[in-house]
Amino acid sequence: MRLGVLISGRGSNLQALIDAVAAADFPAEIAVVISNESDAYGLQRARAAGIATHTVDHRDFASRAAFEDALTAALAARGVELVCLAGFMRLLTDGFVQRWWDRLINIHPSLLPAFRGLHTHRQVLAAGVRFAGCTVHFVRPAMDDGPIIVQAAVPVQADDDEDRLAARVLAAEHQIYPLAVRLFADGRLRVEGARVIVRGGDV
Ligand code: GRF
Repeated sequence: MRLGVLISGRGSNLQALIDAVAAADFPAEIAVVISNESDAYGLQRARAAGIATHTVDHRDFASRAAFEDALTAALAARGVELVCLAGFMRLLTDGFVQRWWDRLINIHPSLLPAFRGLHTHRQVLAAGVRFAGCTVHFVRPAMDDGPIIVQAAVPVQADDDEDRLAARVLAAEHQIYPLAVRLFADGRLRVEGARVIVRGGDV
């Protein structure tokens, strides 16, 4: 299974995927890493791992559709079968989501459907909830929406600030993103309406 990973920055989730696919029994490989920011640190991580990289700068295009056509062309040129958003900071239009329907997944640092959007950890702390977490889901046109593949919960601690909570959630992200990709690549996921059925039981 050939993966395309879309990033905009640090790329720690990309690194978790790079590390996971290095295992001989992992059922997928990263065919290309694409960033809309040419200086994204994640591009250096990819190059260090010998993975093809590509920059598609949204500022070079007159419309979102043209930008996304360039993304799709770069992904298709590498034979990508599953697109993984990993800190990709551009909203995607219906056209792109339809083009990659059920082959486009995202990681979000909350227990969706709670706390969509930006500043997730600030939202979590302001709400006073006792558990935070992260979600890998199939992408649908609405932001941070779509059938849930894997989630992990972590406790919120009394003395947490945004950074401490983010670090705890991020460690869980690095566990579940490779797990979700493995489930997909093993053909264990079936989307039924708003739900994902995992063959062989939930994880
Ligand atoms: C992660 O928290 C991810 O959940 C969110 O953006 C952040 C990206 O971090 N979508 P990184 O670039 O993978 O380190």
